[in-house]
Amino acid sequence: MAKTATPAENAQLKDIISHAKEYGFVYPSSEIYDGLQAVYDYGAYGVELKNNLKRLWWETMTRVQDNIVGIDAAIFMHPTTWKASGHVDSFNDPMIDNKDSKKRYRADVLVEEHAAVFERSGDVEKANSLTGALARMLEAEDLAGVRDLIINEGIKCPISGTSNWTDVRQFNLMFSTQVGSVAEDASTIYLRPETAQGIFVNFLNVQKTARMKVPFGIAQIGKAFRNEIVARQFIFRMREFEQMEMQFFVRPGTELEWYKVWAETRMNWHLALGTPVEKLRKHDHEKLAHYANAAMDIEYDFPFGFKEVEGIHSRTDFDLKSHQEFSKKKQQYFDPEVNQNYIPYVIETSIGADRLFLLTLCNAFTEENTEEKSRTYLKFHPAIAPVKAAILPITKKDGLPEKGKEIVELLKYDFNIIYEDAASIGKRYTRQDLIGTPFCIAVDHQTLEDNTVTIRHRDTTEQERVPISELHGRIAEATSFRRVFEKL
Ligand code: GAP
Repeated sequence: MAKTATPAENAQLKDIISHAKEYGFVYPSSEIYDGLQAVYDYGAYGVELKNNLKRLWWETMTRVQDNIVGIDAAIFMHPTTWKASGHVDSFNDPMIDNKDSKKRYRADVLVEEHAAVFERSGDVEKANSLTGALARMLEAEDLAGVRDLIINEGIKCPISGTSNWTDVRQFNLMFSTQVGSVAEDASTIYLRPETAQGIFVNFLNVQKTARMKVPFGIAQIGKAFRNEIVARQFIFRMREFEQMEMQFFVRPGTELEWYKVWAETRMNWHLALGTPVEKLRKHDHEKLAHYANAAMDIEYDFPFGFKEVEGIHSRTDFDLKSHQEFSKKKQQYFDPEVNQNYIPYVIETSIGADRLFLLTLCNAFTEENTEEKSRTYLKFHPAIAPVKAAILPITKKDGLPEKGKEIVELLKYDFNIIYEDAASIGKRYTRQDLIGTPFCIAVDHQTLEDNTVTIRHRDTTEQERVPISELHGRIAEATSFRRVFEKL
């Protein structure tokens, strides 16, 4: 059941959101026009962090695994794709409007949040009875029943404070637009709501051209769009977001073994990146989508409770079979080992890049308050930190900036480096802590004499003297993806 955030948890999320904005990670989209709900832009450090996360995922899939290749399919697809996938008919959320405030809500979320209040006050029985009734009504598509539940429970609109509700209606989450310049010829197409279908329709192209043999996977990173009714919790639920999806094609009958393999592999990936085990949990789906024979989420303990970050789904042969039916093109694979033609079964791993970004930010956000010091810093794994090292001459005189810039030249082609010579060294360390730079390299007068510098480590604030000639090797060692891959 959805857990509503306590005031302390909300305060923590607020701190993270303002930190993200103030230090160049995430801004509301088109903010000068007061923003656009559930759409966000990534700033100078945000884009570096997001690119690092995407690259890490991509290399895990396409390099560490030897039987997965990538593709980059278009956002627009033939409209029949979405008929075949089931999105035109059933990618819906139940919505309800309050007639006084004119605000729109997801009817199921209103009931779940109402139930969560009972749960928090200790009345678990009432909470379970409400969520049970809701699940039964949604299953039976009894939208009038859902409305009655909202009215009978006295659920009010938080803006108007009234129960003056419309009927509950199904609302399709796909954004549509027109292709074609002449109105009569124009046809409706959709902005893809998931990247997965771009993989399915290319299954045979990739299998043949990359000479893949089942079992094998196809990975893709790209934008997806959903007209979410409830758009809250910062970048957790966006209308434009990025997915990192991998479809793994297997021999029918072996899918549940592969499902277990992928569930474990993906959980290990999160642990290898440094997410604490107690902050992650698996959630098996009790109610399976019509195309799945097993499904689970990997959930992370966000400031607003445990929520889905990644889904692992055993999708059977539903998608390929349906595309075969709608396109009238065979989607079969000839398996020489068993001398048979079949439509492969599919295990999907699907993670939102933005949700992973939020997990990473929440996990890294550290407020340290001891008697000696009080500071906030972002404890990113060095492999994904947006900036790997800052080169900081302690004064702007005596040739120290020139020496600092020589060090930048040594490092900048392999690492994202910052050079800064203004303000006190303490202030510059603080600024690097706030964006999560693992190494600050101070250049001082001794550097001119013996070519050594001081490295200050972000997490411990400890400092050590090292020769400039060792810098490249040390940073490479600490920031290499290998450090993550070796733990898989
Ligand atoms: N192809 C399967 C699929 O799309 P999903 O559970 O709807 O499954 C997969 O989405 C992942 O995409 C989620 O686990 C989440 O990380 C991300 N995601 C889904 N909707 C999102 C949204 N509105 N904003 C941000 N991320 C979203």
